[in-house]
Amino acid sequence: MPTSGSHTSPRIVHEIAELKAAVRAARAAGRQIGVVPTMGALHEGHLSLVDAARQDCDFIVATIFVNPTQFGPGEDFSKYPRTLARDVELLSPRGVDLVFAPEASAIYGPEHVTKVILDGPALSLEGDARPTHFAGVATIVLKLFNLVQPDRAYFGRKDFQQAMVVQRMVADLDVPVEVIVCPTVREPDGLAMSSRNVYLSPEERRRALSLSQSLSLAKQLLARGELNVATIQQRMREVLAAADAEIDYVAICSSTTLAPLTHIDGPAVALIAARIGKTRLIDNELLNEGTPDGPGKGPAGPRKG
Ligand code: PAJ
Repeated sequence: MPTSGSHTSPRIVHEIAELKAAVRAARAAGRQIGVVPTMGALHEGHLSLVDAARQDCDFIVATIFVNPTQFGPGEDFSKYPRTLARDVELLSPRGVDLVFAPEASAIYGPEHVTKVILDGPALSLEGDARPTHFAGVATIVLKLFNLVQPDRAYFGRKDFQQAMVVQRMVADLDVPVEVIVCPTVREPDGLAMSSRNVYLSPEERRRALSLSQSLSLAKQLLARGELNVATIQQRMREVLAAADAEIDYVAICSSTTLAPLTHIDGPAVALIAARIGKTRLIDNELLNEGTPDGPGKGPAGPRKG
């Protein structure tokens, strides 16, 4: 079992030089470094990643940075919740050693021009809806990997496509980090936890349940032997439409490549993006759990070290 992860307040670091020195010292002391990249406004979904990191690592870095380059024009960058003091309070009892919360100017110097170019699974779904999003995500994630040089990095399956994009980048660019994808944490009624749920009015919060309900229906239909994707998607759309959700996409794809399927004959994932009022939410479910590979792979729950 890890010996560190002392349940005291983490060290809060804003400067890159200080981050590097702290990580260097931890590595010199033989610690295994785990990183949990976040944009803050933390909830149990994020904290579950910290818990998973503590199973395998003994120096945990949580990063909190609302990354401007992954937001498109007209998206919620300026109103994205920024709650650093509360985030640190939530992280403290979970055994995080260091919180890296840089200013944007420390991350993107005035001459910064370089981006990661993506193809394949980054182009569809979120990539269609938000064309500059994944280049922004991949570039910041690669920078964080280079700054922290972690042994392992923890991502949530809630952002299924993001996890796949990161896994592809790490494999394709030989980034020396193990990517671990953890299950989606949900509210008791099924709503996937998200920092954006705070935007929902009580009435929208009820309508937002249509995403997880639609995904549950997809699982039920498959369990009853329905393998036709068009049929399942139609039923999913009906659940969303009944809640007045404005559908961006409803997709059933290979969970290993994200290629769209017409017939479920292998590892699959159902994915939804929909707007409830002004709030855009995403959610997904693996349709045939137990089948290996893709961001579906990873711990089914907290793991023993
Ligand atoms: P953010 O939305 O803050 O999410 C940080 C991490 O928490 C991601 O890996 C995300 O998948 C995970 N997460 C969010 N909600 C979750 C839930 N309900 N259950 C389990 N995991 C959940 O994703 C980002 O930030 C950014 O794009 C980032 C990777 C930090 C790059 O800027």
